[in-house]
Amino acid sequence: MQKIAILTSGGDAPGMNAAIRAVTRRALNSGMEVYGVERGYEGLKNGEIFKMDTHTVCDILQRGGTILKSARCLEFKLPETRKLAADNLKKYGVEGLVVIGGDGSFTGAKALSDEQGINVVGIPGTIDNDLAYTDYTLGFDTAVNTVLWAINNLRDTMTSHDRVSVIKVMGRHCGDIALYAGICGGAEFILVPEVKYDLNKIAEAINKNKALGKRSNILIFAEGAGDVDQVRAALPVMTGLDTKLTTLGHIQRGGAPSMADRMLAARFGARAIDVLRKGLTNRVVGIKNNEIIDMDITDALSIKKEFNVKLYEMAETLC
Ligand code: ADP
Ligand code: F6P
Repeated sequence: MQKIAILTSGGDAPGMNAAIRAVTRRALNSGMEVYGVERGYEGLKNGEIFKMDTHTVCDILQRGGTILKSARCLEFKLPETRKLAADNLKKYGVEGLVVIGGDGSFTGAKALSDEQGINVVGIPGTIDNDLAYTDYTLGFDTAVNTVLWAINNLRDTMTSHDRVSVIKVMGRHCGDIALYAGICGGAEFILVPEVKYDLNKIAEAINKNKALGKRSNILIFAEGAGDVDQVRAALPVMTGLDTKLTTLGHIQRGGAPSMADRMLAARFGARAIDVLRKGLTNRVVGIKNNEIIDMDITDALSIKKEFNVKLYEMAETLC
């Protein structure tokens, strides 16, 4: 395979730029030509394709976001849009496509390969860590570190005012950001979509803490866990403590990638090119027990994400 293209799709994640760099440099050093596609499948449909060289990816390793930009393109669910996209790649003689994104992006990549014969390989790039086949997705570590920074700052002010801090974090349907940030930030309560919570028990625990002289508590609330406004409104009534809600939002998606995400990006990118050089298609790369793996997209997407209940139960014994 001589010509490959790369795109980023779905929500951006820190480390995407580092992965773009790794893919591009590894491919160029293997004698391939590399094309960048802007705005994910939207740009692929519209033919927003340009040739990349080693300088295109200079000075991006440390930057959050994606120089290729990202988008959500609902039309890509239609075969006629995928035909347009494949025709655009074929105009440049591109045979292989690296897709950096989450499960939706991988589903689109598979359809493109099955219908149009483009060899595709996926790199898991999402802060949510919601893909079961890989221990970690690109961007998760940095996002959790951003949440930790916020917890530290919030703890200072909440402790000074004897307040309860409810911190809403991202993750879509997955509680991993909340779980990891909650444990590493010493949160008293972690509410995730995967585990049912009982507000009465939470209030009881806060009141017990209060009786022992501890009037400040941190509660991490994953966005998929339910109605955060209801929790924020109920707690002051049930505990008598002033309760503040902070929604971290898209701040979690930006920022310089951590060491862990830069290393993942380098290893994922290199493996993705090795997969394409072998002429394989419908593959995704990932990490299992610190070993880089690749596997079939359909197999990868069929594995159901298991929430780490043991880690969750451990967290409950640490506060
Ligand atoms: P993620 O890749 O992070 O899961 P999305 O679910 O938003 O993010 O998917 C990103 C893009 O992937 C969508 O905007 C769409 O272009 C494409 N996509 C998602 N689901 C499908 C599907 N079933 N068939 C084809 N393309 C899809
Ligand atoms: O998938 C990443 C993510 O940030 C989720 O955690 C969140 O639910 C969603 O994307 C937000 O999407 P948007 O950027 O379209 O608001």
